Amino acid sequence: MQIKMVDLHRQYLGIKNEIDAAIQSVLTSTDFIMGSAVREFEAGLASFLGAKHAVGCASGTDALQVAMMALGIGRGDEVITSPFTFVATAETVALLGATPVYVDIDPKTYNLDVSQIAARITTKTKAIIPVHLYGQPADMAPLLAITKDRGLKVIEDAAQAIGARYQGISVGTLGDIGCLSFFPSKNLGAYGDGGAMVTNDAALAERCRMVTVHGSRKRYQHEILGVNSRLDTLQAAVLKVKLRHLETWTEARIGIAHRYNQALKGLELATPYCAPGVRHVYNQYSIRTSRRDALAEFLKSKGVGHAIHYPLPLNLQPAFRHYVPEGRRFPVAEAVSREIISLPIFPEMQDTEIDAVNSAIRGFFG
Ligand SMILES: Cc1ncc(COP(=O)(O)O)c(C=O)c1O
Repeated sequence: MQIKMVDLHRQYLGIKNEIDAAIQSVLTSTDFIMGSAVREFEAGLASFLGAKHAVGCASGTDALQVAMMALGIGRGDEVITSPFTFVATAETVALLGATPVYVDIDPKTYNLDVSQIAARITTKTKAIIPVHLYGQPADMAPLLAITKDRGLKVIEDAAQAIGARYQGISVGTLGDIGCLSFFPSKNLGAYGDGGAMVTNDAALAERCRMVTVHGSRKRYQHEILGVNSRLDTLQAAVLKVKLRHLETWTEARIGIAHRYNQALKGLELATPYCAPGVRHVYNQYSIRTSRRDALAEFLKSKGVGHAIHYPLPLNLQPAFRHYVPEGRRFPVAEAVSREIISLPIFPEMQDTEIDAVNSAIRGFFG
């Protein structure tokens, strides 16, 4: 049995009529740029997350960049974040001329170890980007306590965590601004690239919106430096349909994760930790084992999809190494990147497929 990491075709078949109609309606109206579906989706997204404002943009990477531009982060500034994340988190900091400053991760949640943040704050620190990795919320309460008194901005990288909650509140809405990705394999995935920023700050939302359209409010009048990063109407139309199904899909992911947790108990591996008071939405179901590479080979031989998120932390990536002071190490991020492996998870996964993954893993560990 071949088991894919994600099967987007199966998802499409389940909502084909709704999707086809939504796409057809954009084709008929030809309002490809900033069409009505964009505003409708933004309103739906804001209400889904309990945020006052949502602003669409062209990708999750752009959401991070636009948010930082809107907050005035740039040359000479420092931004604290995790070294164990997708490259976009630090790449956008660096692109704006600021310096990514890493803090090691917590060995259980794989998110920022908040207890290490204070030691990295300097007079140049402008913001912190907690990443809600794999769909697990970062530990926001102590993080917000650190930033509040110091006037630091909090930009949540919620690219992998739409629908996740921390103490009942949607991630992305806890800090100053939250950044979302609609990359196709995300829990809410477009049929191409897409992203959004969410915030409760009206002025910040307005600035984000301006940055996404060349720094303008009025055509050909450019008040601030901007970029071209709009959410396509076609993608917004797809996302509007999919948003209606997101809760059901998220519950299905959580159910699959619980089934894995039960079946993998007692093996020489760590199943995902779910901190008390949080809702983990399992964009990835990632397990940790010292025999990771052998397990990956074994799963490949059995036709079981898998992926490594991420094989090299950012402090060791050639493009980002020079931001790290000589001798500073991130032992937890480095160890986890050698031992982590993600298993197939998508809402349409059948029980027989979950069981096949489990028995392959049990077979490997004997
Ligand atoms: C943690 C994280 N941040 C940022 C991004 C960037 O999102 P996108 O691929 O939509 O640019 C991703 C997506 O892969 C991500 O996983």
